[in-house]
Amino acid sequence: MPDPDPMRAYYAARAPYYDDVYEKPERREDIAFLRAHLPTVFAGRTVLEVACGTGYWTQHIAPVAAAMTATDAVDEPLQLARARPGVGRVRFERADAYELPASLGLFEGAFAGLWLSHVPVERRGEFLASLHRRLLPGAKVALIDNSTVQLRDFPIAGRDARGNTWQERVLKDGTRHRVLKNFPAREELEAMIADFGERPAFRELANFWLFEYEARG
Ligand SMILES: C[S@@+](CC[C@H](N)C(=O)[O-])C[C@H]1O[C@@H](n2cnc3c(N)ncnc32)[C@H](O)[C@@H]1O
Repeated sequence: MPDPDPMRAYYAARAPYYDDVYEKPERREDIAFLRAHLPTVFAGRTVLEVACGTGYWTQHIAPVAAAMTATDAVDEPLQLARARPGVGRVRFERADAYELPASLGLFEGAFAGLWLSHVPVERRGEFLASLHRRLLPGAKVALIDNSTVQLRDFPIAGRDARGNTWQERVLKDGTRHRVLKNFPAREELEAMIADFGERPAFRELANFWLFEYEARG
């Protein structure tokens, strides 16, 4: 039965060719930077990954992490993530980012790639509260996501009064999906984590942004 949540259904259907996003030539330089940088953030730490998808970033963080748990709410991408080389030590779990269960444990680091853009403005606090219940004081958090350059491929097709925006996406099977995709500015990210973390650092790349902070003690 298809997932009743439209976002989950979209990612379930897209999973077999999701990794095409990492093959776009214009993204090569950013991806090389992030592949080199993220392991330096998480080296020697226990790491929780949220919305890991097909495990593209998992495979680059896991080798340096003390231990890693990677979660996603959808089975199809998780199955592909489990099959990647080099993730033998990773614990994969199906989990909703808004309700990360206590059974996952507590972590010294957290990563979410291309996830925050899919969190409705009004649910950001709920997501962060869920995440921070799983983090130890001083845990390092890194979020990456698309910059507004991505709008060239998928212009905004709708918006609401809260500031959420939507894009129309067409999958290879011809199905059309209205996908919530937000583009938070640096100031929005800093305000968003004010109750949860400190020492925010923002870096704008050509196609992505990187936002890091430390969980408050
Ligand atoms: C844009 S993909 C990002 C995948 C991966 N992190 C990456 O950077 O390549 C978004 C992911 O969010 C997952 N997802 C959707 N709703 C979710 C939820 N409520 N909780 C956790 N993951 C969710 C989808 O299954 C999908 O794998």
